[in-house]
Amino acid sequence: MDDANKDSVKPKRRIRYKGKYPRRFEEKYKELNSEKYSSDVEKVIQSGKTPAGTHRPVCVNEVLGILKPCPGQVGLDSTLGFGGHTVELLKKIMPNGRLFAIDVDPLEIVWTEKRLRVMGYSDKELIIKCGNFAGISKLLNDAGGGFDFVLADLGVSSMQLDNPSRGFTFKREGPLDLRFNPKNGQSAVDLIRVSDKKQLEKMFFENSDEPYARLISSAVFKNRNKINTTKDLADVIVSALNKKSSLDYEIEIKKSIRRVFQALRIEVNDEFSVLEQLLRNLPFCLKPKGRVAILSFHSVEDNRVMNFFEQGLREGFYSDISREPTRPSAKERYSNPRSKSALLRWAVKK
Ligand SMILES: C[S@@+](CC[C@H](N)C(=O)[O-])C[C@H]1O[C@@H](n2cnc3c(N)ncnc32)[C@H](O)[C@@H]1O
Repeated sequence: MDDANKDSVKPKRRIRYKGKYPRRFEEKYKELNSEKYSSDVEKVIQSGKTPAGTHRPVCVNEVLGILKPCPGQVGLDSTLGFGGHTVELLKKIMPNGRLFAIDVDPLEIVWTEKRLRVMGYSDKELIIKCGNFAGISKLLNDAGGGFDFVLADLGVSSMQLDNPSRGFTFKREGPLDLRFNPKNGQSAVDLIRVSDKKQLEKMFFENSDEPYARLISSAVFKNRNKINTTKDLADVIVSALNKKSSLDYEIEIKKSIRRVFQALRIEVNDEFSVLEQLLRNLPFCLKPKGRVAILSFHSVEDNRVMNFFEQGLREGFYSDISREPTRPSAKERYSNPRSKSALLRWAVKK
Protein backbone atom coordinates (compact mmCIF):
# COMPACT_ATOMS: atom_id res chain seq x y z
CA MET A 1 0.00 0.00 0.00
CA ASP A 2 1.44 3.42 -0.88
CA ASP A 3 1.65 6.19 1.72
CA ALA A 4 -1.23 8.22 0.27
CA ASN A 5 -3.56 5.22 0.56
CA LYS A 6 -2.30 4.33 4.03
CA ASP A 7 -3.30 7.80 5.26
CA SER A 8 -6.82 7.41 3.88
CA VAL A 9 -7.46 4.13 5.80
CA LYS A 10 -8.63 5.26 9.24
CA PRO A 11 -8.49 2.78 12.14
CA LYS A 12 -11.97 1.60 13.13
CA ARG A 13 -13.16 3.31 16.33
CA ARG A 14 -14.62 1.19 19.06
CA ILE A 15 -18.35 1.51 19.62
CA ARG A 16 -19.20 4.32 22.05
CA TYR A 17 -21.68 3.76 24.82
CA LYS A 18 -23.02 5.64 27.83
CA GLY A 19 -21.64 4.75 31.29
CA LYS A 20 -18.85 2.34 32.27
CA TYR A 21 -20.24 -0.85 30.72
CA PRO A 22 -22.03 -1.49 27.42
CA ARG A 23 -25.71 -2.27 27.89
CA ARG A 24 -27.16 -2.66 24.42
CA PHE A 25 -26.56 -5.84 22.40
CA GLU A 26 -24.77 -3.97 19.55
CA GLU A 27 -22.45 -2.23 22.05
CA LYS A 28 -21.09 -5.47 23.53
CA TYR A 29 -18.35 -5.69 20.93
CA LYS A 30 -16.01 -7.71 23.18
CA GLU A 31 -18.63 -10.37 23.90
CA LEU A 32 -19.56 -10.47 20.23
CA ASN A 33 -15.89 -11.14 19.41
CA SER A 34 -15.18 -13.93 21.88
CA GLU A 35 -12.08 -15.29 20.12
CA LYS A 36 -10.28 -11.95 20.48
CA TYR A 37 -11.55 -11.05 23.97
CA SER A 38 -11.66 -14.48 25.63
CA SER A 39 -10.71 -13.26 29.13
CA ASP A 40 -13.46 -10.58 29.11
CA VAL A 41 -15.94 -13.22 27.95
CA GLU A 42 -14.82 -15.56 30.77
CA LYS A 43 -15.49 -12.77 33.30
CA VAL A 44 -19.06 -12.38 31.97
CA ILE A 45 -19.62 -16.16 32.34
CA GLN A 46 -18.20 -16.15 35.89
CA SER A 47 -20.70 -13.42 36.82
CA GLY A 48 -23.56 -15.80 35.90
CA LYS A 49 -24.43 -14.10 32.59
CA THR A 50 -24.42 -15.37 29.03
CA PRO A 51 -22.05 -13.34 26.80
CA ALA A 52 -23.86 -11.60 23.91
CA GLY A 53 -23.92 -13.63 20.70
CA THR A 54 -23.24 -16.96 22.47
CA HIS A 55 -25.22 -19.72 24.15
CA ARG A 56 -24.26 -21.85 27.14
CA PRO A 57 -25.30 -25.47 26.65
CA VAL A 58 -27.53 -26.87 29.40
CA CYS A 59 -27.14 -30.19 31.28
CA VAL A 60 -24.13 -31.23 29.15
CA ASN A 61 -22.93 -34.00 31.49
CA GLU A 62 -26.46 -35.30 31.99
CA VAL A 63 -27.03 -35.39 28.20
CA LEU A 64 -23.73 -37.24 27.64
CA GLY A 65 -24.63 -39.67 30.45
CA ILE A 66 -27.95 -40.44 28.74
CA LEU A 67 -26.82 -40.63 25.12
CA LYS A 68 -23.55 -42.49 25.89
CA PRO A 69 -21.92 -41.41 22.59
CA CYS A 70 -19.02 -43.71 21.57
CA PRO A 71 -16.27 -43.64 18.90
CA GLY A 72 -17.56 -44.51 15.44
CA GLN A 73 -21.23 -43.76 16.15
CA VAL A 74 -23.62 -41.76 13.96
CA GLY A 75 -25.64 -39.15 15.86
CA LEU A 76 -27.97 -36.21 15.33
CA ASP A 77 -28.05 -32.90 17.17
CA SER A 78 -31.43 -31.70 15.93
CA THR A 79 -31.05 -28.20 17.46
CA LEU A 80 -27.51 -27.05 16.69
CA GLY A 81 -27.82 -23.49 18.11
CA PHE A 82 -24.35 -22.27 19.11
CA GLY A 83 -22.99 -25.81 18.85
CA GLY A 84 -22.20 -26.33 22.55
CA HIS A 85 -23.73 -29.82 22.75
CA THR A 86 -22.51 -30.62 19.23
CA VAL A 87 -18.87 -30.08 20.17
CA GLU A 88 -19.13 -32.29 23.27
CA LEU A 89 -20.87 -35.05 21.29
CA LEU A 90 -18.27 -34.83 18.51
CA LYS A 91 -15.41 -35.29 20.99
CA LYS A 92 -16.98 -38.56 22.16
CA ILE A 93 -17.68 -40.11 18.73
CA MET A 94 -14.20 -39.56 17.32
CA PRO A 95 -12.48 -41.32 15.65
CA ASN A 96 -14.67 -42.48 12.77
CA GLY A 97 -17.95 -41.02 14.07
CA ARG A 98 -20.31 -38.75 12.16
CA LEU A 99 -22.57 -36.13 13.65
CA PHE A 100 -25.46 -34.58 11.75
CA ALA A 101 -26.46 -31.18 13.11
CA ILE A 102 -29.50 -29.21 11.97
CA ASP A 103 -31.17 -25.95 12.92
CA VAL A 104 -34.17 -24.20 11.47
CA ASP A 105 -32.58 -20.74 11.90
CA PRO A 106 -30.87 -19.78 8.61
CA LEU A 107 -29.16 -16.74 10.16
CA GLU A 108 -27.39 -18.14 13.23
CA ILE A 109 -26.47 -21.43 11.54
CA VAL A 110 -24.06 -19.56 9.25
CA TRP A 111 -22.04 -18.18 12.19
CA THR A 112 -22.12 -21.47 14.06
CA GLU A 113 -20.92 -23.44 11.05
CA LYS A 114 -18.08 -20.94 10.45
CA ARG A 115 -16.95 -21.26 14.08
CA LEU A 116 -17.10 -25.05 14.12
CA ARG A 117 -15.18 -25.34 10.84
CA VAL A 118 -12.48 -23.01 12.22
CA MET A 119 -12.26 -25.36 15.21
CA GLY A 120 -11.23 -28.03 12.71
CA TYR A 121 -14.41 -30.11 12.19
CA SER A 122 -14.67 -31.09 8.52
CA ASP A 123 -17.90 -31.80 6.65
CA LYS A 124 -17.02 -35.53 6.69
CA GLU A 125 -17.46 -35.78 10.47
CA LEU A 126 -19.88 -32.87 11.05
CA ILE A 127 -22.71 -32.56 8.54
CA ILE A 128 -24.56 -29.27 9.07
CA LYS A 129 -27.89 -28.60 7.38
CA CYS A 130 -30.52 -25.90 7.79
CA GLY A 131 -33.83 -27.61 8.39
CA ASN A 132 -36.67 -28.41 10.74
CA PHE A 133 -36.40 -31.46 13.02
CA ALA A 134 -39.95 -32.36 11.98
CA GLY A 135 -38.28 -33.62 8.78
CA ILE A 136 -35.80 -35.89 10.62
CA SER A 137 -36.63 -38.84 8.33
CA LYS A 138 -35.14 -36.98 5.35
CA LEU A 139 -31.68 -37.40 6.94
CA LEU A 140 -31.94 -41.17 7.24
CA ASN A 141 -30.47 -42.12 3.84
CA ASP A 142 -27.33 -40.04 4.38
CA ALA A 143 -27.05 -41.36 7.94
CA GLY A 144 -27.00 -44.96 6.74
CA GLY A 145 -30.52 -45.86 7.87
CA GLY A 146 -30.58 -44.80 11.54
CA PHE A 147 -28.97 -42.85 14.36
CA ASP A 148 -27.23 -44.19 17.45
CA PHE A 149 -28.45 -41.13 19.32
CA VAL A 150 -30.58 -38.01 18.84
CA LEU A 151 -30.57 -34.82 20.90
CA ALA A 152 -33.22 -32.08 20.85
CA ASP A 153 -32.61 -28.99 22.99
CA LEU A 154 -35.89 -27.19 22.43
CA GLY A 155 -36.76 -23.53 22.34
CA VAL A 156 -34.73 -20.45 21.75
CA SER A 157 -30.96 -19.86 21.90
CA SER A 158 -29.40 -16.99 23.81
CA MET A 159 -28.15 -15.54 20.51
CA GLN A 160 -31.72 -15.34 19.25
CA LEU A 161 -33.06 -14.10 22.60
CA ASP A 162 -30.47 -11.36 23.05
CA ASN A 163 -30.56 -9.99 19.50
CA PRO A 164 -33.21 -7.21 19.44
CA SER A 165 -33.70 -7.53 15.69
CA ARG A 166 -35.20 -11.01 16.22
CA GLY A 167 -37.91 -9.72 18.59
CA PHE A 168 -37.81 -12.62 21.06
CA THR A 169 -37.79 -10.61 24.28
CA PHE A 170 -39.63 -7.66 25.81
CA LYS A 171 -36.40 -6.59 27.49
CA ARG A 172 -35.06 -5.12 24.24
CA GLU A 173 -36.99 -3.06 21.73
CA GLY A 174 -37.16 -4.53 18.26
CA PRO A 175 -39.63 -5.64 15.62
CA LEU A 176 -42.11 -8.13 17.10
CA ASP A 177 -41.04 -11.03 14.89
CA LEU A 178 -40.27 -14.16 16.99
CA ARG A 179 -39.64 -16.51 14.05
CA PHE A 180 -36.76 -18.98 14.21
CA ASN A 181 -36.71 -18.68 10.43
CA PRO A 182 -37.56 -15.07 9.54
CA LYS A 183 -37.67 -16.07 5.84
CA ASN A 184 -40.63 -18.33 6.42
CA GLY A 185 -44.20 -17.92 7.67
CA GLN A 186 -45.89 -15.17 9.60
CA SER A 187 -44.25 -12.80 12.12
CA ALA A 188 -45.90 -12.27 15.51
CA VAL A 189 -47.07 -8.80 14.41
CA ASP A 190 -48.86 -10.31 11.41
CA LEU A 191 -50.31 -13.08 13.55
CA ILE A 192 -51.74 -10.54 16.01
CA ARG A 193 -53.26 -8.52 13.15
CA VAL A 194 -55.18 -11.50 11.75
CA SER A 195 -56.28 -13.10 15.05
CA ASP A 196 -59.58 -12.37 16.77
CA LYS A 197 -60.02 -11.96 20.54
CA LYS A 198 -60.99 -15.59 21.10
CA GLN A 199 -58.02 -16.93 19.12
CA LEU A 200 -55.60 -14.74 21.08
CA GLU A 201 -57.11 -15.84 24.39
CA LYS A 202 -56.88 -19.52 23.40
CA MET A 203 -53.27 -19.05 22.27
CA PHE A 204 -52.16 -17.34 25.51
CA PHE A 205 -53.99 -19.86 27.66
CA GLU A 206 -53.18 -23.11 25.85
CA ASN A 207 -49.58 -22.36 24.88
CA SER A 208 -48.46 -20.76 28.13
CA ASP A 209 -51.13 -21.29 30.81
CA GLU A 210 -51.49 -17.50 31.08
CA PRO A 211 -53.93 -16.82 33.95
CA TYR A 212 -54.88 -13.35 32.61
CA ALA A 213 -55.34 -14.59 29.04
CA ARG A 214 -58.81 -13.04 28.68
CA LEU A 215 -57.83 -9.58 29.94
CA ILE A 216 -54.62 -9.50 27.90
CA SER A 217 -56.22 -10.80 24.70
CA SER A 218 -58.89 -8.04 24.87
CA ALA A 219 -56.23 -5.35 25.22
CA VAL A 220 -54.03 -6.84 22.46
CA PHE A 221 -57.01 -7.15 20.13
CA LYS A 222 -58.09 -3.56 20.79
CA ASN A 223 -54.57 -2.26 20.09
CA ARG A 224 -53.67 -4.75 17.35
CA ASN A 225 -53.00 -2.11 14.69
CA LYS A 226 -50.72 -0.12 17.00
CA ILE A 227 -48.49 -3.06 18.01
CA ASN A 228 -45.31 -3.20 15.92
CA THR A 229 -42.48 -3.71 18.36
CA THR A 230 -41.65 -5.83 21.41
CA LYS A 231 -42.05 -2.72 23.57
CA ASP A 232 -45.48 -1.90 22.10
CA LEU A 233 -46.74 -5.35 23.09
CA ALA A 234 -45.17 -5.21 26.57
CA ASP A 235 -46.73 -1.76 27.16
CA VAL A 236 -50.19 -3.02 26.16
CA ILE A 237 -49.87 -5.94 28.61
CA VAL A 238 -48.63 -3.68 31.41
CA SER A 239 -51.50 -1.22 30.97
CA ALA A 240 -54.07 -4.04 30.83
CA LEU A 241 -52.73 -5.68 34.00
CA ASN A 242 -52.20 -2.38 35.83
CA LYS A 243 -56.00 -2.18 36.01
CA LYS A 244 -55.74 -5.03 38.50
CA SER A 245 -54.25 -2.97 41.29
CA SER A 246 -53.23 -6.04 43.28
CA LEU A 247 -50.63 -7.11 40.69
CA ASP A 248 -46.97 -6.39 41.27
CA TYR A 249 -44.93 -5.47 38.19
CA GLU A 250 -41.73 -7.27 39.18
CA ILE A 251 -43.52 -10.46 40.19
CA GLU A 252 -46.78 -11.06 38.31
CA ILE A 253 -46.80 -8.62 35.37
CA LYS A 254 -43.31 -9.48 34.10
CA LYS A 255 -44.22 -13.17 34.26
CA SER A 256 -47.34 -12.54 32.20
CA ILE A 257 -45.36 -10.61 29.58
CA ARG A 258 -42.87 -13.50 29.38
CA ARG A 259 -45.69 -16.03 28.99
CA VAL A 260 -47.40 -14.02 26.24
CA PHE A 261 -44.12 -13.76 24.29
CA GLN A 262 -43.64 -17.51 24.73
CA ALA A 263 -47.19 -18.23 23.55
CA LEU A 264 -46.68 -16.12 20.42
CA ARG A 265 -43.29 -17.74 19.73
CA ILE A 266 -44.84 -21.21 20.02
CA GLU A 267 -47.60 -20.20 17.61
CA VAL A 268 -45.52 -18.50 14.90
CA ASN A 269 -43.05 -21.39 14.86
CA ASP A 270 -45.77 -24.05 15.15
CA GLU A 271 -43.64 -25.52 17.93
CA PHE A 272 -46.08 -28.10 19.33
CA SER A 273 -46.90 -29.54 15.95
CA VAL A 274 -43.25 -29.87 14.82
CA LEU A 275 -42.30 -31.38 18.20
CA GLU A 276 -45.07 -33.96 17.78
CA GLN A 277 -43.81 -34.79 14.29
CA LEU A 278 -40.32 -35.31 15.69
CA LEU A 279 -41.63 -37.49 18.54
CA ARG A 280 -43.74 -39.57 16.13
CA ASN A 281 -40.81 -40.13 13.73
CA LEU A 282 -38.14 -40.78 16.35
CA PRO A 283 -38.67 -44.54 16.91
CA PHE A 284 -38.21 -45.11 13.16
CA CYS A 285 -35.02 -43.03 13.02
CA LEU A 286 -33.11 -44.67 15.88
CA LYS A 287 -31.07 -47.85 15.50
CA PRO A 288 -31.88 -50.74 17.88
CA LYS A 289 -30.69 -49.63 21.35
CA GLY A 290 -30.45 -46.07 19.99
CA ARG A 291 -30.93 -43.32 22.57
CA VAL A 292 -32.75 -39.99 22.53
CA ALA A 293 -32.55 -37.04 24.94
CA ILE A 294 -34.95 -34.08 24.87
CA LEU A 295 -34.51 -30.88 26.83
CA SER A 296 -37.67 -28.81 27.19
CA PHE A 297 -38.14 -25.55 28.99
CA HIS A 298 -41.78 -25.55 30.02
CA SER A 299 -44.27 -28.06 31.30
CA VAL A 300 -46.63 -27.97 28.29
CA GLU A 301 -43.76 -29.16 26.09
CA ASP A 302 -42.41 -31.62 28.67
CA ASN A 303 -45.86 -33.24 28.99
CA ARG A 304 -45.92 -33.89 25.27
CA VAL A 305 -42.48 -35.53 25.40
CA MET A 306 -43.54 -37.64 28.40
CA ASN A 307 -46.78 -38.78 26.71
CA PHE A 308 -45.05 -39.82 23.48
CA PHE A 309 -42.30 -41.68 25.36
CA GLU A 310 -44.88 -43.49 27.54
CA GLN A 311 -46.90 -44.43 24.48
CA GLY A 312 -43.72 -45.63 22.72
CA LEU A 313 -42.91 -47.82 25.74
CA ARG A 314 -46.43 -49.31 25.84
CA GLU A 315 -46.37 -50.00 22.10
CA GLY A 316 -42.95 -51.68 22.33
CA PHE A 317 -40.91 -49.11 20.38
CA TYR A 318 -38.84 -48.23 23.45
CA SER A 319 -37.30 -50.63 25.96
CA ASP A 320 -36.94 -47.97 28.67
CA ILE A 321 -37.80 -44.32 29.30
CA SER A 322 -37.18 -41.72 32.01
CA ARG A 323 -39.83 -41.82 34.74
CA GLU A 324 -39.16 -38.29 35.95
CA PRO A 325 -37.43 -35.39 34.16
CA THR A 326 -33.84 -34.64 35.18
CA ARG A 327 -33.21 -31.04 36.19
CA PRO A 328 -29.97 -29.03 36.08
CA SER A 329 -27.89 -29.25 39.25
CA ALA A 330 -28.10 -26.43 41.80
CA LYS A 331 -24.59 -25.41 40.73
CA GLU A 332 -25.63 -25.11 37.07
CA ARG A 333 -28.84 -23.24 37.91
CA TYR A 334 -26.79 -20.77 39.94
CA SER A 335 -24.03 -20.30 37.36
CA ASN A 336 -26.41 -20.19 34.37
CA PRO A 337 -29.84 -18.88 35.43
CA ARG A 338 -31.16 -19.51 31.90
CA SER A 339 -30.90 -23.25 32.64
CA LYS A 340 -33.35 -22.99 35.57
CA SER A 341 -36.48 -24.29 33.86
CA ALA A 342 -34.81 -27.14 31.90
CA LEU A 343 -36.48 -30.57 32.01
CA LEU A 344 -34.55 -33.46 30.46
CA ARG A 345 -36.22 -36.72 29.37
CA TRP A 346 -34.84 -39.76 27.56
CA ALA A 347 -35.88 -42.98 25.87
CA VAL A 348 -34.03 -46.07 24.59
CA LYS A 349 -35.11 -47.82 21.39
CA LYS A 350 -35.85 -51.53 21.70
C1 LIG B 1 -31.81 -23.96 23.01
S1 LIG B 1 -31.16 -23.70 21.43
C2 LIG B 1 -30.01 -25.01 21.21
C3 LIG B 1 -28.67 -24.71 21.80
C4 LIG B 1 -27.61 -25.75 21.50
N1 LIG B 1 -27.92 -27.02 22.11
C5 LIG B 1 -26.26 -25.27 21.95
O1 LIG B 1 -25.61 -25.95 22.77
O2 LIG B 1 -25.82 -24.20 21.50
C6 LIG B 1 -32.47 -24.20 20.43
C7 LIG B 1 -32.17 -24.13 18.94
O3 LIG B 1 -33.14 -24.95 18.28
C8 LIG B 1 -33.51 -24.35 17.09
N2 LIG B 1 -34.83 -24.88 16.74
C9 LIG B 1 -36.01 -24.58 17.32
N3 LIG B 1 -36.99 -25.30 16.76
C10 LIG B 1 -36.40 -26.08 15.80
C11 LIG B 1 -36.90 -27.04 14.89
N4 LIG B 1 -38.20 -27.33 14.82
N5 LIG B 1 -36.02 -27.67 14.08
C12 LIG B 1 -34.68 -27.38 14.14
N6 LIG B 1 -34.17 -26.45 14.97
C13 LIG B 1 -35.01 -25.82 15.81
C14 LIG B 1 -33.49 -22.86 17.39
O4 LIG B 1 -33.34 -22.13 16.21
C15 LIG B 1 -32.28 -22.76 18.32
O5 LIG B 1 -31.13 -22.48 17.59
